[in-house]
Amino acid sequence: MDTVSAPEGCPAFPPARRHAYEHPELYYEFQDHEPAAKVTLPTGDVVRLITRFEDAKQILIDRENIYSRKLLCEPDAPWFSTLRPPPGMLTTSDPPENTRLRRLAAGCFTARKVKAMEPRMQAVTDRLLDAMEDMTPPVNLVETLSLPVPIAMICQLLGVPPDGEALVHDWCNSLLTITADSPEELMAQQMKMAGYILELAEVKRKEPSDDLMGSLVAAMDEGKLDDGELIMLIMFLCIAGHETTLSMINGAVVTLLDNPEHKQRFMTDPSCVDAYVEELIRVNPIGDGGPLAIVTKDVEIGGTKIAAGEAVLVPVGAANRDHRRYENPGAFMPERDNRDHLGFGGGAHSCLGAPLARLELRIALTSLFKRFPTLRLAVDREELQLKPTMSLHTLHTLPMTW
Ligand code: HEM
Repeated sequence: MDTVSAPEGCPAFPPARRHAYEHPELYYEFQDHEPAAKVTLPTGDVVRLITRFEDAKQILIDRENIYSRKLLCEPDAPWFSTLRPPPGMLTTSDPPENTRLRRLAAGCFTARKVKAMEPRMQAVTDRLLDAMEDMTPPVNLVETLSLPVPIAMICQLLGVPPDGEALVHDWCNSLLTITADSPEELMAQQMKMAGYILELAEVKRKEPSDDLMGSLVAAMDEGKLDDGELIMLIMFLCIAGHETTLSMINGAVVTLLDNPEHKQRFMTDPSCVDAYVEELIRVNPIGDGGPLAIVTKDVEIGGTKIAAGEAVLVPVGAANRDHRRYENPGAFMPERDNRDHLGFGGGAHSCLGAPLARLELRIALTSLFKRFPTLRLAVDREELQLKPTMSLHTLHTLPMTW
């Protein structure tokens, strides 16, 4: 990846890791000494990195409407890649526009709707595990389970047919790249995905369906949504709906393997599963990125004065490991009170897909360990490497044996 060299005193972001599951020491250093440190993104843009729990929470909740996502679309605003973020996307809009867009999708993420997905989710998972059982280990868990479960579920929810699943994954991968490489290449991928979404919308218009795409097409016909907004919303949901859970399933498996006593209890005591899933989400960051926003008036964060116009980046995985909030923050302790963790963000932009993600984690992890009680890593943990260009933590491979 071509990266722009960091200005003096502004370390490059994301910080380097020796292996995929190392929590960068820099986060702890910043928390203690520089809670709003300046860091340099791969594009050369400098932003303030907010690493303490309380500061992160305050920015996410944003009671005084100080932090704008919409301003990220201005031509000179900082961003992760050279391809400017499009306006009108969930992450690049502020309330009330953001609230309006979220409402259009929210109906598909209610507890009742998600619960109704459980039988198919279990069937998809069981089928994948049947296939895994027939393989000779080592197998790559990314391909056998962590990717196909969330992608099948988000595609079902959206109304993308099964033969579109691989396309969606490839496009999402290219959109998530953080690189200073050619914006033309990234734009070409984006245009292909946009074309696919519009074609699918036409199909749904002719044959109405009760999936999310069907209801969004109905909203378009009532004048509540335009073509561009539909494309942005579906693209965002495709990415948010599977790359996140993929990363979390991988991280959760590694965490449980690292904690054999907890793994044993997780496998045998259904009453503990929900608490375990919550702590797995707290300790496993899905990426170094996180909400990025422009400060609209001078503020003070963690004792540092930040001027209007500067950008703040809030990696929630760092905040979730702040010793000011959690004792021994790097340890997996499912019995602790972690109900306020920031793994799903907070405030107006908080995760709409959280109920779906929790269910996917519960089903994928319990089914996996039940079927393969002797599951273990087939390589040294230190050999696990993240794909370097991704803003979400994605592994090349997660080799497993049993
Ligand atoms: C374990 C898996 C997941 C994690 C850890 C996660 C995490 C997050 C976080 C931290 C945010 C806040 C982003 C911000 O403030 O800009 C967020 C927002 C969001 N997530 Fe998730 N997510 C997960 C799974 C999902 C799934 C399965 C979906 C389903 C489509 C989803 C859809 C969304 C949506 C729609 C938003 C709102 C964005 C906005 O209003 O700006 N997420 N998620």
